[in-house]
Amino acid sequence: MEKQYFATWESVRSHTVPDWYDDCKLGIFVHWGAYSVPAWAPPTCQLGEIDGDENWFCNNPYAEWYYNSINVRKGQTWEHHKKVWGEDFPYENFAHMWKAEKWDPAEWAALFREAGAGYVVLTTKHHDGLCLFPSKYTDYSTVAIGPQRDIMGELTRAVREQGMKMGAYYSGIIDWRFANDPIFHDSQNFTNACPTYEYADYAYKQVMELIDRYHPSVLWNDIGWPKRGEEMLPNLLAHYYNVVPEGVIDDRWNGLIRDFASREYKFGEVTREEKWEMNRGIGLSFGYNTEEDERHLLSKAELVSLLVSTVANGGNLLINVGPMANGVIPPEQVERLRALGAWLRVNGEAIYGTRCADRLSETTESGIDLHYTAKDDMMYVMMDHLPAGESKVMLKGLHGTLQAIDPTVKFACTDESDGLCVTIQEYHPDCYALAFRLAR
Ligand code: GLC
Repeated sequence: MEKQYFATWESVRSHTVPDWYDDCKLGIFVHWGAYSVPAWAPPTCQLGEIDGDENWFCNNPYAEWYYNSINVRKGQTWEHHKKVWGEDFPYENFAHMWKAEKWDPAEWAALFREAGAGYVVLTTKHHDGLCLFPSKYTDYSTVAIGPQRDIMGELTRAVREQGMKMGAYYSGIIDWRFANDPIFHDSQNFTNACPTYEYADYAYKQVMELIDRYHPSVLWNDIGWPKRGEEMLPNLLAHYYNVVPEGVIDDRWNGLIRDFASREYKFGEVTREEKWEMNRGIGLSFGYNTEEDERHLLSKAELVSLLVSTVANGGNLLINVGPMANGVIPPEQVERLRALGAWLRVNGEAIYGTRCADRLSETTESGIDLHYTAKDDMMYVMMDHLPAGESKVMLKGLHGTLQAIDPTVKFACTDESDGLCVTIQEYHPDCYALAFRLAR
């Protein structure tokens, strides 16, 4: 019998990260909503450029924040909105215009599987309040308007058919339709967002609906939980863990509880002692932003590097796709996911099911990054940023027989007194990181 949880902090905090989550390493985040219709955020922003900027809230690179710009009535997105749609054009119109007419959930799920992902997390309700599932508590959902489909339900089925786990993102504390405190609109003071008991109750009941209907394997709350509803959290989470024994939660619950720590765009100070998850878009936005081009997107090589360096340090990568309003995932995102999948099909042994090795990532004098993972009696060495052609890598303190996971990799290795001396031959940068196994 599965462990039972009770509605106390002590009980829900005794929950631990399930192995499936730590094993599968790669998840796909999907930000899809009414914001995918205007699909716009300032294009000039480079990552990090506007961090700490007091105008971040009305000028950020996140296309899914479009509604906020309309509320705040300032910033580049607001200027864009006035010009293209007109200043009296309400955000809700985008929800009606969103038709998802080309959406095939089975096609998405097949792509995510091909990318090598083990789980998918969908924005069931982002900050704009539009629900991508039928809810007893609102008619503002994609079932009643816009696409007229239970997007969460259809995607859940398709994802599970592909053997992956399905997770639900929910914006707990922010719902811009209820953000009646003007401070909230342009400051970081999230505690004043949606401050009423009524809203806290609404969020509680909706998350309960999500749990009971879809049994999401990941419950990914965003920003925080309404202060007024905090005392109900042990109840909500005990229910979640009891209904979904394999469930796992993120850390955006007012700092009160977490199974894993989330990291948005930055690695930050991540300890290898606890499970964490890196999430970011392929570009600089989560929602589809028509202003983004190759300059804003991670290259295929960068995407592989991100996965490798994340996993070697105990993290999962939750890489985001931002589909277009019609349901098509932009080809530049598809291409990158396919490349990641192709790399994983060859090198997945060094990624899936591994844990941190007792050796830290390091960079050689010639700029080659070395990452390590471990599984059973094997250690894996991944060499990233190798130059084309031939190069030498010294693996100090390691001994034994090094085997390339990809049998076509050409290399020579001699076991010397201070470690393994590896010569990589005829390396082509399209191979991205090379992975090797070494018996421990
Ligand atoms: C932030 C943003 C949001 C995005 C999320 C993903 O909280 O507000 O737009 O969904 O992070 O990490």
